[in-house]
Amino acid sequence: MSLLFDPGFIGTLQLPNRLIRSATAEYMSDLEGRPQEPMFDLYRELAKGGVGLIITGHCYVHQGGRCHLHMTGVYKDDLLPDLEMLSRAVHDEGGLVVMQINHGGRQCPQEAIPGTPVAPSPVPTARGKERPRELNEEEIWEIIAAFGDAAGRAKAAGFDGVQIHAAHGYLINQFNSPAANWRKDRWGNTPAARMRFLEEAANSIRHRVGDDYPVLIKLGMEDYVRDGLTLKESTEIVRHLAEWGIDGLEVSGGIGRTSVVKDVLRPEDEAYFLDAARAAREATDLPISLVGGLRSTEVMERVLEEGTADFISLSRPLIREPDLPRRFLQGQKRSACISCNRCWPPPGEIGIACRDPNKEEREESSG
Ligand SMILES: Cc1cc2nc3c(=O)[nH]c(=O)nc-3n(C[C@H](O)[C@H](O)[C@H](O)COP(=O)(O)O)c2cc1C
Repeated sequence: MSLLFDPGFIGTLQLPNRLIRSATAEYMSDLEGRPQEPMFDLYRELAKGGVGLIITGHCYVHQGGRCHLHMTGVYKDDLLPDLEMLSRAVHDEGGLVVMQINHGGRQCPQEAIPGTPVAPSPVPTARGKERPRELNEEEIWEIIAAFGDAAGRAKAAGFDGVQIHAAHGYLINQFNSPAANWRKDRWGNTPAARMRFLEEAANSIRHRVGDDYPVLIKLGMEDYVRDGLTLKESTEIVRHLAEWGIDGLEVSGGIGRTSVVKDVLRPEDEAYFLDAARAAREATDLPISLVGGLRSTEVMERVLEEGTADFISLSRPLIREPDLPRRFLQGQKRSACISCNRCWPPPGEIGIACRDPNKEEREESSG
């Protein structure tokens, strides 16, 4: 039997196999952040499809941190009944579900937040969006508390754990990154100071959820922008994760397009953050999951066999085939996803979906 179907632990959480649905924003919640029926259906389908753990799309912890319209919210108690329905949809099908919690910082578009986007420093994104407003000390602590409160809500709503989003250029990644964090106070200027926001957010979360509740992190280990976060600095962050009470690390990287690489079609294009995972493996004994272009059982098994990662995370392949784990069990060797990046809803539409224009044709020809 393939290693992919061995059970494994992340903290107190026992996964039935090594396949994880990486956080994937669904664009299916209403404008207050409440998940709607199509999202419950999607989660039931994923759970039935046999994935070992589902990580939700990022959920905003603070109204000033909403990354786009139709993002799911966890910023107020009033959302609890809706969030509870989401965890129940998964549990009713025998699955496990962890909530990813996030604040978008300077990547929040104007239409999604009240006021100006905030950031560690008033540095616009590389795409030249509006200049963000620098957070003051009081606001920093308010957002740290919001991460803790959000984790408390996830637990109260029945989720099996939380995952801190510290990748893809969002607020925590901004604090970690010398390209975005130009502060000269205790929140910036040195590697130790840049990682302080993450440390305090992790403390705030652990304080709210208690010792045994699974707290995971998705860490951007390299920014791939000028003066950005490098493997050298992020490896230092990794060294501290266990002492900050983190139970498991998902290795990612990049900002925008470099985190969701297109056209992963050959085995040599797969596992595009493998080097980052190897560096993380040297720095921690925590369970590691690798995301980014994993498509074939051959490459997935190799990554597990060499011990670089303990779990395999998938995003786009599970949009294409939510039952991919079952298909692997039945002998399918590769995801049908062509990494065309058409999964995001076009303007005016809501909901992720596989929009590969040749999907039907391809399915027919593969029988
Ligand atoms: C439609 C879409 C939405 C995404 N939303 C999130 C998200 O909410 N949080 C996150 O950490 N990553 C998000 N990602 C990135 C994926 O989790 C993953 O890191 C990336 O797609 C690479 O993995 P893959 O090759 O398996 O798709 C998203 C990706 C896609 C395609």
